[in-house]
Amino acid sequence: MNLKHLVRPCVCSIKPYVPGKPIEELKRELKLKNVYKMASNENALGPSLKAVSALKKSLRDIHFYPDGNCFYLKKALAKKYNLNNDNIIVGNGSDELIVLSLRAFINKGDEVIIADPTFLVYKLAATIEEAKIITVPLKAFRYDLPAMKAKINSRTKMIFIANPDNPTGSYVTQSEVESFFKGLPEHVIVFFDEAYYEYQETKDYPDTMKYIGHKNIIISRSFSKAYGLGGMRVGWAAANKEMISYLNQVREPFNVNRLAQAAAVAALEDKKHILKSRQMVRCGKRYFYNEFKKIRLFFVPSAANFVLVNVGMNSTVVYQKLLQQGIIVRDMTDWGLKNFIRVTIGKPKENKLFISHLKKIIGKHK
Ligand SMILES: Cc1ncc(COP(=O)(O)O)c(C=O)c1O
Repeated sequence: MNLKHLVRPCVCSIKPYVPGKPIEELKRELKLKNVYKMASNENALGPSLKAVSALKKSLRDIHFYPDGNCFYLKKALAKKYNLNNDNIIVGNGSDELIVLSLRAFINKGDEVIIADPTFLVYKLAATIEEAKIITVPLKAFRYDLPAMKAKINSRTKMIFIANPDNPTGSYVTQSEVESFFKGLPEHVIVFFDEAYYEYQETKDYPDTMKYIGHKNIIISRSFSKAYGLGGMRVGWAAANKEMISYLNQVREPFNVNRLAQAAAVAALEDKKHILKSRQMVRCGKRYFYNEFKKIRLFFVPSAANFVLVNVGMNSTVVYQKLLQQGIIVRDMTDWGLKNFIRVTIGKPKENKLFISHLKKIIGKHK
C-alpha cells in the first residue's frame, strides 16, 4: 500500500525524535545485568517517595477519569509561584505545552524562530503546524538573543528560548532577557522553556514570571527532571489568563492522567527530595568538570543536570563503546555537534563508572 498521496507533506518532512535508549532495550540486546541511563536528563535519585505513596493511594480510583482541570495541582503550583489557577495549564509533559502553543497560535507560513542546535521538539511541532522555521546558530554554545531578535519580521509569531538550554546546559541572563524584550513587537509570542529550572543556581538567571501580564510570554516547566517524574508525563505552563484560555481550547479534555496529577502534587510538597536532587547534581557536575579538565576535554559549564563534552574523537564510537559497558549517554552527532556527547549527572557511583570507561575508551588514563 502506498499512502504518500494521502499523507500531509509536512508529515513526510519530519525527522522523527529519537529518544535516549531505554534501559530494558539495552539489557535485552546485550544481555547486560547492570545498565545505567545517563542519556535523557532524568533524576538519577529516582522519584520522591511521597509521590510514590500518593500514586499508590490513587490507584484505587483509576476507573474514574482524571480531573481535566487539574484543580489541585494548579492550586499547589499557584500557591508556590504566587499565581492564580487561571494563569496555569498542565500538560502531558512540558512537550505537550510546546505542541499546544504552536497549535493555538500558528497559521500556515507563520515564522517560528529557534536556535540551532537546541531541543528538537520545537522544530518537530512547528513543522506539523506548517510554520516557516527560522534557525539562529548558537554563539559560543549560548543562545544569541540579539541575533534571534534581528530575525523578527511581520510574519514572526513565536520564538522559543530553552533556558537552561538542552543540549548545552547554558542559560540566558536577566539582563539579556531585559534587552531582548525592549522594543519587541507585540505580535511575537516568546516561549521560555524552563524544564531544568530547578537546577539553575545563579543570581543572574531571569525571573520570567514577572513578565506575565505585560508581555506575550509562555513559561513552561517540567516534573520530568528534578521532580523525578519523567515516566508520569507532567509539565505545566504559566501565562496570562487569555493566553492560557487559548491553550485550553486546543488541548484534549483529559490530557493529564489521574496518577500523574497525584504524583505531581506530592512531589511538589517534597522539598527534601528536591534539595537532595540539586545537591547530587551540583556535586556530580563538579566531579565531571574536574575530571574533564584533568584529561583536557572541552565541556560547556551547565546550569542543568547534564554536561555537553567534546570527547576529542568520533562520538558515535564512544557512545557505542559505552553502551557495551552498560552506560547509555547521548551521541550529539545528529545534532550537528561532531565529537560531542551529552551525559546526564548520575549517582556518584555511576559518574565514576562513566569517567573510568570514558578514559579507557579515549585512551587517557591520568
Ligand atoms: C529543554 C527541554 N524542554 C522540554 C523537555 C520535555 O520535558 P517533558 O518531559 O516535561 O515533556 C525536555 C526533555 O528532555 C527538554 O530537554
